[in-house]
Amino acid sequence: MLTKAFAVAALAAALLSSPAQAATAPLRQLADAKGVLMGSATLAGEIRSDPAYSTALRTEFNAVTPGNEMKWDTTERQRGQFSFTDADFVVAQAKAAGQKVRGHTLVWHSQLPSWVSSGGFGADELLSIMRTHITTEVTHFGGQLYAWDVVNEAFNEDGTLRDSVWYHTIGQGYLAEAFRAARAADPTAKLYINDYNVEGLGAKSDGLYNLVRTLKSQGVPIDGVGLQAHLLLGQVPSTLRQNIQRFADLGLEVAITELDVRMTTPSTSDKLAQQATDYAAVENACLAVRGCVGVTVWDFTDKYSWIPSTFPGQGAATPYDENLRPKPAYTALNTALGGTSEPPTAASCSVRYTVQNSWPGGFTASVTIANSGTSPIAKWSLGFDFTGGQRVSQGWNGTWTQSGAHVTVTAPAWNTDIAPGTSVNTGFNGTFSAADPAPTAFAVNGTTCAAQLSPSSTTRTATAGV
Ligand code: XIL
Repeated sequence: MLTKAFAVAALAAALLSSPAQAATAPLRQLADAKGVLMGSATLAGEIRSDPAYSTALRTEFNAVTPGNEMKWDTTERQRGQFSFTDADFVVAQAKAAGQKVRGHTLVWHSQLPSWVSSGGFGADELLSIMRTHITTEVTHFGGQLYAWDVVNEAFNEDGTLRDSVWYHTIGQGYLAEAFRAARAADPTAKLYINDYNVEGLGAKSDGLYNLVRTLKSQGVPIDGVGLQAHLLLGQVPSTLRQNIQRFADLGLEVAITELDVRMTTPSTSDKLAQQATDYAAVENACLAVRGCVGVTVWDFTDKYSWIPSTFPGQGAATPYDENLRPKPAYTALNTALGGTSEPPTAASCSVRYTVQNSWPGGFTASVTIANSGTSPIAKWSLGFDFTGGQRVSQGWNGTWTQSGAHVTVTAPAWNTDIAPGTSVNTGFNGTFSAADPAPTAFAVNGTTCAAQLSPSSTTRTATAGV
């Protein structure tokens, strides 16, 4: 990751060279320039089933956290039987998109199969079960993850340790043992303890603070503290920054790991404005402290937020609405990260993708990008995902690159801008094996295209839509 000092220089250079670009810069570009993480939780099923979601995830975020796929009830449902299929998928997708991955989570009282929680094991056997789980899972992802939430939600509200099966059976020593096992299995991952209701100063965060200070002084390999930040509307703790600072002063990283700001539904424009203020307050508190590595939202769209099913009557907690449109909270994050206040507009571009010619194993596609907005699209760049394993073999009228399923074409030097009401055409030859389905979601300069062009009369056509 970039250091913040270097990042400031990089951002200044970016602003000088292309002042207009900041207007629609995606969050991840702004976060990269500041040397911080802007992450989102995600689920394998969301990426697989929802191309528009998947495009926005890879366009806007430089980090992801698998929301459930790395938890014990998924990875070791029965003793000694490990399964990482969905987690591997999320990690592979993140890798293809150049995103860091936060592993979540190894030792927790929740989403823990009953064979562990109600197995009646003694201390030695439970410790051995815990070590085996950590060693197997961390080794499996060895070298691929930025960080691990090694222990999750270990505290009671009064700052004492939660009476989980871990504490109850093994005692406080389970904490140090968990970190040691994780470090031994992957020396490259940052090891975190993660919790909720520890964002501001208070009894619970004092308990966490005293624990991590003790662990550090004992040489236990702990690198960071995760503040989940599942917040209520208008209730960002005023001591958030001070709290982040005291953990950083211990020589630890701090990350905001699961940010959302819930409200009583339905939302109103007043509530959404307050929510934007809250998101900005959290982002700014992190940016203000060297050592706060970034912010992750607990999924970025209300379409997939965990809030409504967990807190009945509450919702609208994320920066995008249920139709994947950015809310004021998105704009607030973008602005806090140094962007201008304009959110991506959903309807200013349209893309027509036409397979013009097809033969066994190969095809030629023509791609037309139209500017249906009122301002020029400068230095255009188009991104889309293949869903049939196709590969671009040769392209024209632009620079074509492919990473995994994700394809990017950037403007050729002689045709960089698309004036309002005009279009550009580009194309490529590709290969496929079994099938050649057309991509269904396209993003121009990070903006998902909404409008449609009339289909052409050629072999196959896909028009972009949201
Ligand atoms: C949540 C997931 O988002 C839900 O899909 C699941 O049903 C329950 O867990 N704190 C955490 C996360 O550390 O793992 C939780 O995720 C949200 C609260």
